[in-house]
Parts: sequence; C-alpha cells; structure tokens
Amino acid sequence: MTINRPIIQLEPQLVNQIAAGEIVERPASVLKELMENAFDAGADKVAITVEEGDVGSLTVTDNGRGIPKEEISLALSRHATSKIKSMEELEGVATMGFRGEALPSIASVSRLKLSTRIDEEKTGWELNLEGGEALAPMRPVARISGTTIEVRDLFFNTPARRKFLRSESTEVRHLEEVVRRLALSRFDVDIEIARGKKITRYKGAAESPQRRIREVCGREFFEQSLPIEFNSGAIHLYGWVGHPTFSRSQRNLQYLYVNDRNVSDRMISHAVRRAYQDVLYHGRHPAYALFIDIDPKRVDVNVHPTKSEIRFREGRAVYDIVFNEIESVISQPLSKRREGEREGESTPRFNPAGGGKGAFRPTSMHHTPGAQGHLKLEVREERALYSDLLGGSDAESDSAQTDGEGIPVLGYALTQLHGVYILAQNSEGLILVDMHAAHERITYERLKRATAESTMQVQPLLVPITFRASPAEVALAEEQIEVITSLGFDLSQLDQQTLVVRHVPALLGDTDIPLVLHDLLSDLATHEMTQEVDKRINSLLSTMACHGSVRANRDLTIPEMNALLRVMEETDKSDQCNHGRPTWIQVSMEELDGWFSRGR
Ligand SMILES: Nc1ncnc2c1ncn2[C@@H]1O[C@H](COP(=O)(O)OP(=O)(O)OP(=O)(O)O)[C@@H](O)[C@H]1O
Ligand SMILES: [Mg+2]
Repeated sequence: MTINRPIIQLEPQLVNQIAAGEIVERPASVLKELMENAFDAGADKVAITVEEGDVGSLTVTDNGRGIPKEEISLALSRHATSKIKSMEELEGVATMGFRGEALPSIASVSRLKLSTRIDEEKTGWELNLEGGEALAPMRPVARISGTTIEVRDLFFNTPARRKFLRSESTEVRHLEEVVRRLALSRFDVDIEIARGKKITRYKGAAESPQRRIREVCGREFFEQSLPIEFNSGAIHLYGWVGHPTFSRSQRNLQYLYVNDRNVSDRMISHAVRRAYQDVLYHGRHPAYALFIDIDPKRVDVNVHPTKSEIRFREGRAVYDIVFNEIESVISQPLSKRREGEREGESTPRFNPAGGGKGAFRPTSMHHTPGAQGHLKLEVREERALYSDLLGGSDAESDSAQTDGEGIPVLGYALTQLHGVYILAQNSEGLILVDMHAAHERITYERLKRATAESTMQVQPLLVPITFRASPAEVALAEEQIEVITSLGFDLSQLDQQTLVVRHVPALLGDTDIPLVLHDLLSDLATHEMTQEVDKRINSLLSTMACHGSVRANRDLTIPEMNALLRVMEETDKSDQCNHGRPTWIQVSMEELDGWFSRGR
C-alpha cells in the first residue's frame, strides 16, 4: 500500500506510546522497570502492591533517594536520565537504567501518580498524569523520603495492547516471576509483594545468600545443586548449578545475571547445555542460578529494548569459562567432590551451603557399622576379578576414596538383588546401585577418553566375524570407514551383502559384535550430517557402552561388586548413566529408622 501524504512530526504523546510498545508489554514489564529504578535509587526496601481483580494497577514504593522537585517533570520526559551523560559513561554503565525511557513510556499508557521526597526536603511532591499528560500542577504532600509510583488502568488508551493481556492468573504469574528474578539480582534488598491477603517477602540477605536462593529457587534446588566459582580477576563467575538428576522439563529454573542484571543470553545457555550434554535426558533442562561479575566496559548492555540481552566483548572466552567450570563441577566423581567438601574448597564468594544433604551428596558420615574391616582386604586381593569385569582397568582399587573413617564413599557390597541392584553399606547407611547403568557410564567414559587420546586398545579376533548386512549398511560402512576405524573396529566389505570384522575395541569384551555394528550403522545413518562431530562420536560411543556393559541378571561376586563400586568412585560423571538417570542412591540410617519408627 502506498500513501501520498506529507511528512509530519509526530506528537510527543504518540512518540511515547510507540516507545512504550517496545518497553511495556504487560504489567510485569511495568513492575520490572519500577523495581529497577528503585534499585538504582539506592533503596534497600521495595514494597509492591498489586490490585486484586485488576492486574493493570500496581504500586511500587521504595526508600531510595527520591527525586528533587525540579527534576520530577524531567523524570517523566523521554531521553532524560540521571544515570549517564556521555557515550563513554554508557559504555561503562553499572546502573539498571540508562535510556531515560521507562517512566514516560509507562505514563503514556496508564494513569500514573508519582509521589517522592528527597531527604533534604521537608515535604514531598505529588504529580498525577493521565496518558502522560499532567492533570494538575504538582502539589506538596507529607511523606517519608523515597518514591512511590502508582500505575492504574494500564493500556486504558491503547485498546489494541489491552487485548493482548492474558488472564489475571497468567499476568500475576508473570509479576511473581519478575519479583523472583529481581530478588536474585539484589540479595541485599528487602522485597515484599502483596496482592490482597497474599503477601510474599524476600528478606534482604546480603550475608546469607543461601537463604535468598532457597526462598527464590526452592529448597529442592538448593539441596540438589552444586556450588561453582571461578575468579580470574577480570571475570568472576559463581552460583549454583543443579545436579544432573535434578533436571526440569521446562527452562523455568534458569537464572543468569551479568553485573546484577538478569539477562537471557543464547551463548551462555548454549555453554550450559553443552556442559550437561552427556548427563541429561533428551528434552530435559538443567537448573541454575549463575552470576557473572565483569568490568561493565566488557559488556554491551544496550542491545535490546527491554535490556534483557547483553553482548560480551570477549564472548568466546566467557563461553569457555562457563562451559569448563560447569562441566568440571558436574562431572566430578562423587569421591573427589567429597574430598573438596572436606577441605572446604568448593566455597564460592557466597559460601553457598556447601551443597545439599540430598540423596546424592551426603555430607556427614556418622553411623559406623562394626564389621567392615575384613571386607577391605578382600577388595584388595581381588584385582583379577576386578579387571575381568572391567576389561583391564587402569583404576587403582588401593587408592579408593574413603571417608574420615576409612570407609569408601560407596561403601562395601553386601549382595545383589534380582541380578539388577547391588546393595552396599557405607557409614551413612544403605547404598543401592543400578549395576548396568553404572557400568555403562564407566565404559562410556573410558571409551570417550580412549577416543580423545587415540589410545583405543583393539583386540584382534582369532576368527574374523562375518555377518550379513543390508546394501545400505554396506554402503554406509564404506563411506564412514574413518569414523568406524577410529572407534576401534576393523570392518570391511566381503561382498555386497556381507561385512567382515577383524578386530574390535578391547573395552567391548565378549559382546555380540554384529549387533553392536548394526546399531552403530543405524546411528550413523540417523546422525549423519545432523550433529557436530564430537556429539556424533559421543552418541556412537554411548551405543557401544550400552552393549559393552554388564547386563542385568548377570551374577556378580562380592569382589566384583566392590570393584565396580571403587571404579565408580573414580569415574567422571558416574553418578548418572549416559541417559541422565541416577546410577546409585543413598538411604541413610535415619531414613531406614524412620520407616520402622525406630529409636524415636
Ligand atoms: N524510584 C526512583 N527513585 C529515584 N529516582 C527515580 C526513581 N525512578 C526514576 N527516577 C529518576 O527518573 C529518571 C527517569 O527514570 P526512567 O526509568 O524513565 O529512566 P532511566 O532509569 O534513567 O532509564 P531506563 O529507561 O533505561 O529505565 C531516572 O534517571 C532517575 O533519575
Ligand atoms: Mg529506569
């Protein structure tokens, strides 16, 4: 459509409404802007009231420095800010706001009452606006210092926008999420949100960030997360990342802060996803609260209308730090983590509670069963069986990680249940191990290491195995011969429908080799071109690991079980199988006593 009309300058009110379109999407965006202004004003108390039955009306009161009388009308005009003066200051901006757009935008699409007082003045001042136009001159009011902004009838003059508002309960959920997000942005500020009788309080907790994390992210997350910290001087990364078994079906427990600003960043989420790649079920999402403090000059905050995205000047370096730190924390085998705990290593800036007391990170070893001594010897003596089970292991059963009382973290095996679970006891109580899942992870980690270091041991077959394959499989085997060779197979074509294999990876033991190769070829066919190379290789190795691991229903001797426990203690990521399921759980004596109402 073309229109033949002269160019005109738009009225300021319309300009503001257009700007508001970008900034004020819904009541929650109003709340975000007002809370950020309160933070920037140095407030340590922010109280929010949301009208019941009318989410388009909310009030935010803070005890910050207030606005001097002569600046009030400026605060409500566009491109007026106290936060920056020059490009240089924008480049190093450390406040939440910097555009001077939020208040005029909100005012242009609502009925807004601003009341404020600075400490130095005896009275405060109040101004009422409708659609951004002052209804009457400013008038003096009695009030304590600080600022109150009351927004009513949001979008009353922009019906199209109003139509996009969802049900009250949805909008309230968005409001509550904004409060949670901002509560993690500033641990030191008291925040209270009231809607009718429902009041939620986050008490300022500068010294006890654990409490804030627990209140905002929930106890479960808190107990099942691992603290991380990295500080190079130029960048400080810290926070908590959920244990892989504490994954979510949604991305809703993912909080990222860069210099206290809550942002979403595709690069960082990718780094986190990659760190969890090997330990999460497909379609599950990790939970985390991550904080990055970095020189403001090294991030550009001016890249998104709602300031919810940023750009790192050295993106690649930040990506690598996030990936490496998270990967190493979540991969650490339990024994190493325990050691760290004992030495108090893993204590980030906040000193998060040193991890949870959840099933996967028992912290205290208090119960000492008596008859453990003789078992230890047995373990040492059974190297032969041990390497039989694990295919020539390199792990040292002598160096098994033990608790303060000399008992290994995963304890000593007692028996096997229905050929599926190993039952073991440690000083805490009972340990249950999913034998196949655990062995699968161990084999997988070994295969990965062998491939990465090009040290895959191969075992020549006395009699080469020939097997029938489809023409497509034969073609694929030829085409992907390099990958297949790198996995430790010597595979070639005998005729159009027969493949022959002459050596296999030693780690596979006595597996049904044609079956493994059929599976690998079908994996290759599906993954071809669709994934990055290392991902593809890992998924092939995972298939091999599944075949190469002890099957359920295989009877293990006690020494074999103990051997498996010792290797688990030493193997990266051994707390989950390759699909993210737990490989073992701890049931404490207290829990067992509880089941029998014992001792209470
Ligand atoms: N709660 C408050 N307490 C004290 N001063 C405030 C408060 N809210 C706003 N102001 C003042 O009003 C000015 C304009 O606020 P506004 O939110 O519109 O812009 P900004 O915060 O500077 O930038 P942005 O548009 O990025 O939020 C601020 O720069 C600040 O000086
Ligand atoms: Mg602002």
